[in-house]
Amino acid sequence: MTTSVLTATHATAFAPISNQFPTSTATSTATATATSSATPTSTAPPSIVGPKIKGPTRPTKQLPQSLIDEARRHERVPFDPEKHLDIVAPKSIFTMKDIGLEGQGISATAASEPFSLFTPEAVNQMRAEIFSQPVLDSCQYASDFAKNMIRGFGPRLAPFIFDAWNSPEVLQTVSKIAGIDLVPAIDFDVGHINISIDDVTAEVVSAHQHTTNGKQGRGDEEDDISAFAWHRDSYPFVCVTMLSDCTGMVGGETALRTGTGEIMKVRGPAMGTAVVMQGRYIEHQALKALGGRERISMVTSFRPRDPMMRDETVLTGVRAISTLPELYLQYTQYRLEVLEERLRLQGRRVRQREMSGRGLDVAETRKFVQEQKEFLEAMLLELVE
Ligand SMILES: [Fe+2]
Repeated sequence: MTTSVLTATHATAFAPISNQFPTSTATSTATATATSSATPTSTAPPSIVGPKIKGPTRPTKQLPQSLIDEARRHERVPFDPEKHLDIVAPKSIFTMKDIGLEGQGISATAASEPFSLFTPEAVNQMRAEIFSQPVLDSCQYASDFAKNMIRGFGPRLAPFIFDAWNSPEVLQTVSKIAGIDLVPAIDFDVGHINISIDDVTAEVVSAHQHTTNGKQGRGDEEDDISAFAWHRDSYPFVCVTMLSDCTGMVGGETALRTGTGEIMKVRGPAMGTAVVMQGRYIEHQALKALGGRERISMVTSFRPRDPMMRDETVLTGVRAISTLPELYLQYTQYRLEVLEERLRLQGRRVRQREMSGRGLDVAETRKFVQEQKEFLEAMLLELVE
């Protein structure tokens, strides 16, 4: 098995100036809704498998009180982009072509190098929310994938985190890196926290809303370094942010499997920095990080803002680590909103053709109907009773 490290020479140049984000695949919201057409779904989306546990399970391993006390020391303040953002574009972005997966997924972007996103004060505010008593009381989960996760806090329990990920500055940054306009997938997954203490639960490192494909290591070399099974994510894009001081830590990279079966590594984020990845379409795994006292990362999941874009979000990886009524409600609401907007836009397209003297494009209409049928059938597969 060949293992190589992706370097900037493989990647798309990415100057740290906001207007130099790649634009070839980026689509502004305004133009997207006016001009885009539904992306063909001619190929079946990659199938994935979730945790083996049947339903929400609370952790048996308690978090250290010192970690909780330290997090709560900080006076809570509202999110302020001036104070809490320190955005510097990544030096490079690896494209799907770079990793041999050209044409797959919904964007040309595969993954970014770590880039500066949040200030230390922002990290402290996020940690204060994550380790607040109401969040710990209701949002802790464990699975066969990860021992300590905190997730499912909404804007009421974690207003700072919610405001940060919904801020125009952050959304613009993540979208430019992704090459398409993105929005947080659903409130439930605006921040999924993975916690690893003293390297004991190294498998926690990258557990987020992961779904495995069942290929648990493919050789001794990989078993030695892997912190988590090979998998694809449940949502189209994720942004992984580090909330721990990684000074002295080694490892922690993300390994990507290329179209030719090679393994490439992308450097893991340091405190306040983040990595964007099209995880739904790239088989990947987190590698062990050693030498740190704690490793706390936040995974934020995204979907396309443009309702007409292909959206192959599934709930496979998150169903067992969520309160189902809430997860299903949010999933259903977003899917219905997307469908509503698609019908509205398609209706307008039909009317415009009529007004301009053209009749109905039967083939195009059939294609649209077929795609909505598949969109609804996908919902039936996810809303498991
Ligand atoms: Fe992942």
